[in-house]
Amino acid sequence: KRRVGILTSGGDCPGLNAAIRGVVHSAYNLFDVEIVGIADGYKGLIEGNYKEMRREDFDGILTLGGTILGTSRQPYRNMRKIEEDNVDKVAAMKQNYRKMKLDCLVTLGGNGTHKTANLLSEEGLNVIGLPKTIDNDIWGTDVTFGFHTAVDIATEVVDRIHTTANSHGRIMVIELMGNKAGWLTLYAGVAGGADVVLIPEIPYSIDALVHAVEERIRVKKRKFSIIAVAEGAMNLREAAMKGKERAAFRASEPYMSVSYRIADQLQQATGLESRVVVPGHFQRGGSPSPYDRVLATRFGVQAAKLIKEERYGMAVAQIGSIVTQNPLSEVAGKTKLVPKDHQMVEFARCMGIAFGD
Ligand code: F6P
Repeated sequence: KRRVGILTSGGDCPGLNAAIRGVVHSAYNLFDVEIVGIADGYKGLIEGNYKEMRREDFDGILTLGGTILGTSRQPYRNMRKIEEDNVDKVAAMKQNYRKMKLDCLVTLGGNGTHKTANLLSEEGLNVIGLPKTIDNDIWGTDVTFGFHTAVDIATEVVDRIHTTANSHGRIMVIELMGNKAGWLTLYAGVAGGADVVLIPEIPYSIDALVHAVEERIRVKKRKFSIIAVAEGAMNLREAAMKGKERAAFRASEPYMSVSYRIADQLQQATGLESRVVVPGHFQRGGSPSPYDRVLATRFGVQAAKLIKEERYGMAVAQIGSIVTQNPLSEVAGKTKLVPKDHQMVEFARCMGIAFGD
């Protein structure tokens, strides 16, 4: 009998429960298994907060948003720091793994989760990582579950904003999530027909932005413009700053989030009224789309197959149309950003979408 521990860590996203169900149902079908559910991500593993789960506990969760196991953010940079709370977190996680008598730990999470999963794997635990995030920024996989549901939601926002923008002849600045990556904004911007897409990977200048809006008025005779801005988008000045300097700038008093700054500047430069829309965590809530249910299920099954074959230290991935895996050591510490010359960017430019550069 294999004992498999499961935890979900980092920001939640649609598809987590579908992935948990994928692991559990296929594990029950492929081998003799006992499942231990660990509460609130690595926090539960550190604190020893877990429970034995029954097969029925996973019934009816395919369509549920969030995670039945709970989650938390446990920054990787603090994992090896003992001074702060006097807890040797790595030792505690190893001890609880042994206490639970686990043969393997399955971690569902994003970049930070994968880093800690790799650390545990280097410490001798059997770990398998599944890539979740609405940001789609995990290295080594073409896609993460949660991403397409968020694109669907963000696209609906961009769609609906068109009519009110048109009625009032306004500039509507829509701030979308994505952390330091522009995937969500790029996809929702193209799918929703945004006029401008601003992503962290392509720093913008306000002059180019004003030009794009004025050209739209001059050439297309359209008074309204839809600007899709990734929360991590940067102007040229910010892009030239070092990480710490940028963080200090963003924490400084007069700093406004990128969307409010842009709306302000565009209103002043063009004389058109501007409004900001921030859908925020709406992009992460609720039921996963059919695409994500299928992807999360496939990832879950792949994890169970790896457990059956005792192939640990792996991060499940989709490359092309095939579900496969990469060594955790290769994935940990890397981020997948939008390449400036990505075909989607080029095609968006062909469609007349401005990137503010
Ligand atoms: O990683 C997912 C994400 O939603 C990012 O897009 C966003 O920057 C961040 O999490 C928000 O984090 P929190 O839910 O902790 O506010």
